[in-house]
Amino acid sequence: MMNNIGIYIHIPFCKSKCAYCNFVSGKFCQKFQKEYVKTLIEEIKTYKINKKISSIFFGGGTPSILPSSEINKILNCIKNNFKLTKNVEISIECNPNSVNFNKLSNYFNMGFNRISFGVQSLDDEVLKKIGRVHNRNQAIRAIKQAKMAGFNNINVDLLLGIKENKNIFKEIKLLKSLGVTHVSAYMLILEKETPLYKMVNEDKIKLLNEEQSIQEYEKYLKILNNFGFKRYEISNFCLKGFECKHNLNYWQCGEYVGFGVASHSYLDGIRYSNTENICEYVNDYNLKTYEKLSNKEKLEELIMLGLRTKKGVPLKNLLKYNYDPLKNKNALKMLCLKLIKINKTHLYITSKNFGITNQIILKLIED
Ligand SMILES: C[S@@+](CC[C@H](N)C(=O)[O-])C[C@H]1O[C@@H](n2cnc3c(N)ncnc32)[C@H](O)[C@@H]1O
Ligand code: SF4
Repeated sequence: MMNNIGIYIHIPFCKSKCAYCNFVSGKFCQKFQKEYVKTLIEEIKTYKINKKISSIFFGGGTPSILPSSEINKILNCIKNNFKLTKNVEISIECNPNSVNFNKLSNYFNMGFNRISFGVQSLDDEVLKKIGRVHNRNQAIRAIKQAKMAGFNNINVDLLLGIKENKNIFKEIKLLKSLGVTHVSAYMLILEKETPLYKMVNEDKIKLLNEEQSIQEYEKYLKILNNFGFKRYEISNFCLKGFECKHNLNYWQCGEYVGFGVASHSYLDGIRYSNTENICEYVNDYNLKTYEKLSNKEKLEELIMLGLRTKKGVPLKNLLKYNYDPLKNKNALKMLCLKLIKINKTHLYITSKNFGITNQIILKLIED
């Protein structure tokens, strides 16, 4: 496990709520946004820790909705309050609708070195259906502008399972030619209490069924791979050397500190969670809950998160919790069935079995 830690900053604002999303985010006036940033800065300023920061991730919501001067204030506060590693990765999530060349240049000049665009789809019909505020051309323009602004580590989020895409090859080819180095391809989760859930239940929208979604994902897998985007986590693909350090740290059960509403921290075996209520957070950012993880819970996290990655879980970490796959009945069975494998250092799921990761994990952590 790494000794350095990651910092996550939650910006819970969006221009409007997408039909499928249940993240802690919403539409708020500028006055409230300013108040939120003030609280966030207070929370960061008062936090003391003696470890170096190897990644900083501004996520949301839509961080790019804030003026760049506000983002600069937050980033400066982090720089003043913590020691950063030399190669610190600093990412920001952006909606293609809320950036322009100036904003992206400002981010680059402040020190951001990784940018992540919520593209979701390059089909205007799909974008409209799921309530996105941008269209295909805006997404392409935003990526081009990021490249011109100096970014050479660009992620796009894609959302699959909505409609069959007949243009996957052309689109991945286009994304690569624009300078995209990382793709997060998420299978749509139909979250209860979202407008999309209601529309699907009322037969107003038809999505791909499970079988069609799996076929669609497989087409993406193949084409992404052909263009050099290697799968290193269930939903994440990148060109060589462009893995997201921040997320790798989560999956390796590394330590991190989260600031902002609904953010989480994990330090010294304790999980801290900030309130999920934005007004409550602005009134008192100290409203946190604490949970000390038992060894059993730590082991489960190790397996659940580590097995999402191609590399898998380090054997030495499993042994720390007295989990020896060669002595565990379920693990042995799955080793025989070649659902999981062991090399000198790791226990991992073979890529062709990534589709049944959840079932494998449940078996591995069964008592
Ligand atoms: C915080 S958002 C990204 C940045 C920005 N808010 C945007 O959407 O442009 C993180 C990503 O989560 C994914 N996501 C959100 N809701 C989802 C859902 N219900 N199922 C699967 N993926 C989802 C989307 O791909 C989204 O880009
Ligand atoms: S997907 Fe992104 S832009 Fe859409 S509501 Fe969720 S956080 Fe906001």
